[in-house]
Amino acid sequence: PHSISRHLSCPGTRVASVGSEEQPSGGAETGTEDKTLQKKFSEVQKERREQAQRTVLIHCPNNINEKKFLKYLSQHGSISNHFFYESFGLYAVVEFCQKDSINSLQNGTHTPTQSTEAAIPFKSRFLNLKLKNPSNQVSGQSFVQADSQSPPSSKKLFELLSYAESIDAQLTALLKAFQLTEENVRLRHLTCSLIEDIAAAYFPSCVVWPFGSSVNTFGKLGCDLDMFLDLDETGNLSDHKNTGNFLMEFQVKNVPSERVATQKILSVIGECLDNFGPGCVGVQKILNARCPLVRFSHQGSGFQCDLTANNSIALKSSELLYIYGSLDSRVRALVFGVRCWARAHSLTSSIPGAWITNFSLTMMVIFFLQRRSPPILPTLDSLKSMADAEDRCILEGNNCTFIQDINKIKPSGNTETLELLLKEFFEYFGNFAFNKNSINIRQGREQNKPDSSPLYIQNPFETSLNISKNVSQNQLQKFVELARDSAWILEQEKKDQPSSSSHPWGLAALLLPPGAGQTSLSRKKKKKPMSEKVKGLLASIKSNSPDRSTDASGK
Ligand code: CTP
Ligand code: MG
Repeated sequence: PHSISRHLSCPGTRVASVGSEEQPSGGAETGTEDKTLQKKFSEVQKERREQAQRTVLIHCPNNINEKKFLKYLSQHGSISNHFFYESFGLYAVVEFCQKDSINSLQNGTHTPTQSTEAAIPFKSRFLNLKLKNPSNQVSGQSFVQADSQSPPSSKKLFELLSYAESIDAQLTALLKAFQLTEENVRLRHLTCSLIEDIAAAYFPSCVVWPFGSSVNTFGKLGCDLDMFLDLDETGNLSDHKNTGNFLMEFQVKNVPSERVATQKILSVIGECLDNFGPGCVGVQKILNARCPLVRFSHQGSGFQCDLTANNSIALKSSELLYIYGSLDSRVRALVFGVRCWARAHSLTSSIPGAWITNFSLTMMVIFFLQRRSPPILPTLDSLKSMADAEDRCILEGNNCTFIQDINKIKPSGNTETLELLLKEFFEYFGNFAFNKNSINIRQGREQNKPDSSPLYIQNPFETSLNISKNVSQNQLQKFVELARDSAWILEQEKKDQPSSSSHPWGLAALLLPPGAGQTSLSRKKKKKPMSEKVKGLLASIKSNSPDRSTDASGK
């Protein structure tokens, strides 16, 4: 039951069509292929935010009648879109055509009174719907169809992979099964918007932007929700009136450093979320990390959230990845394949540590695609050279300029298949001189490592930082060995073509531990029936808990 109830009716409202079926441009977030004009990252983010501000999250009784529910809500204004999903209960995301409708709805909403506990009367857009007369609703009505917001079951994925006709088709099927859905993207922006309302109690004009894999086109269902609390509305200050002899400044408190300011702000917002935030549980303040953050779970959306502040460079690097992910349809398919492969072999983990992160793997794939001949992706330097005055961006003294309009970038003439690219990826990194060289997507070529970190991937904007500083020699070695094995498996597959679909083949074979696959390095260790092993493995790549494979301190 993966179909989702949906309703679109908002005559004449241009903004209502963001990401909808009618106008899929800007759909790169969810992978909707769109060969017409692609929207700029900043445009997509602004539209999504505006959309989220017209939206409410409602916990509903399980036996709700959809028609009556919509009729009841429509008293407050037309609804442009809605869907239901399951996450420890039934929830509805309801988007109105007009923001005013939310006020009207909130005016008719009560703060609950209980005899045993007292409520903090915070009036948010996270609501609870109760039936006045529960028995009335059930009679003869079908229940709503609810989506799950989780990745597909291991059984489903196993089927998908075995029925695909080629490795290319397997990689595409994997991408389709794991990428964020339109509904999931809406829910992510809505959750940020709900948190923004709480932070606005302190900083009325703040913005909470999602960043990282929620918006960079590489998000997998179940991945965490990275949020950035923006107190200067990045980029919006420049058009202020600046005439005359005077310059007006705010009176402010001063603290010893930017870092201390960030820590102080996150500390109070963390307290606020913990004490007053509806649905915010397990709030942890991790303020001594390199990038201080507040981590919490948002009940209702079910997301594991990481809130940071003063982190505009990370938002910019999400935009860069968005551009790379949107430029060529092979990029995302390859990244998803590599990420699932790494997860299946425990190269990545949900526990912070010496493991490779998804972010590092993505950079490795981008670098590899820059090295193809002809290149599939342009270097960051060449994206910078295509930039015009509007694209100019300096953040914390770092030049983060690159072209923002994807439509102006010439598509690659490279026609290599995904199967070939996957095999070559493993071969390339199976033989990479990690001991000497660093990976650098700015220049698109290896450079001498500036220090002795086992894996050195230069941060594209803060060029003195290594994004994979946390990776140990052991973990790197494991990655290299598995890459070699995988290249070998794919090479064998090519030789003995007739791969019967009863055995795991292609991508499914790659997801098995070394030695377990039919075609792998002839280590005869077949204890369990193959199908069981495949299922176990596929279960492990399906993230049942939020997929956090990053060292928070390494950001
Ligand atoms: N980031 C960074 N340097 C790091 C780690 C993270 O700049 N060493 C930034 C990147 O922009 C990254 C974002 O922080 O996309 C979020 O980090 P994280 O959640 O670890 O990675 P995601 O890309 O969101 O991937 P995942 O799906 O694993 O969450
Ligand atoms: Mg993330």
